[in-house]
Amino acid sequence: MIKPWIPIAICTIFVTTSLHAYSAKGMVAYKKVCKQCHGSGFKGASMLESDEWEEMFEKRAEKLKRVHADDPDATRVLNSNYFKRHYQSLGNFLRNNGRDMGVVRSCDGLNCG
Ligand code: HEC
Repeated sequence: MIKPWIPIAICTIFVTTSLHAYSAKGMVAYKKVCKQCHGSGFKGASMLESDEWEEMFEKRAEKLKRVHADDPDATRVLNSNYFKRHYQSLGNFLRNNGRDMGVVRSCDGLNCG
């Protein structure tokens, strides 16, 4: 007979790892495309409040592109295919870690940033 706690334990493990994977994905994208200019992930995320991040990433990150319009290097990054593929998880990461979220972190167990 299967012990009833086993499926529950498996579920718990699955849910926590997939949540981590989700936020880590945005963090990885941040490291690739923003870190070179804006510093580590949680520091970069604290540039703005979460609703400001939301605005930045509306309409395929139109406003984010506008604030970088004078910077050719940043514009190149923001028009790359990599950014197009990952900007949604990047936006989620930044919004979830915005200045008003009260998150002051350096490492979350998977990533330091
Ligand atoms: C090549 C360098 C470069 C890259 C790459 C870059 N930025 Fe910037 N970013 C800048 C510069 C320069 C400014 C203008 C700084 C200023 O005037 O305060 C800026 C401004 C900003 C601002 C406005 C800050 C404010 O106070 O209003 C935000 C938000 C921002 N960047 C987010 C990002 C995000 C998110 C990424 C990654 C997708 C990114 N940047 C990639 C150089 C870069």
